Amino acid sequence: MAVERTLSIIKPDAVGKNIVGKIYSRFESNGLQIVASRMLRLSDVVAGGFYAEHRERPFFKDLVEFMTSGPVVVQVLEGEDAIAKNRELMGATNPQEAAEGTIRADFASSIDANAVHGSDSAASAAREIAYFFAASEICER
Ligand code: TYD
Ligand code: MG
Repeated sequence: MAVERTLSIIKPDAVGKNIVGKIYSRFESNGLQIVASRMLRLSDVVAGGFYAEHRERPFFKDLVEFMTSGPVVVQVLEGEDAIAKNRELMGATNPQEAAEGTIRADFASSIDANAVHGSDSAASAAREIAYFFAASEICER
């Protein structure tokens, strides 16, 4: 295992429920450190570009609409095996299928409003971190 960085987004549903701190707590109590963080409202263009891999999927329009419906918090998480560890903490995309004790099982209400995003590979982590953060905004811990 190596120390990795991954991009995480707390989505508009979770920001709206005022549970940013609860989700940060999951990261922090599971060996992930927050090394960059920002709250922002995504534009259509920024949300669409972020999810470009899904552009042809039937849910793309609704996904962009949801991701722009309120503020999000984006963060870079760092730790041993951070990419897979964050995916494990998040749980399955559909909260109905997410394992007990995961963020999506505990805090998400539906597949489209599922509380969090996490990079799914080293390549997507590199792309997604650079999409939101300049190198100078990521802190050495
Ligand atoms: P995906 O990358 O497959 O899931 P994950 O977030 O677990 O990496 O899909 C991106 C987002 O698109 C997902 O979090 C919610 C939305 N989505 C739907 O609304 N319906 C769907 O059937 C799928 C697969 C995704
Ligand atoms: Mg994904």
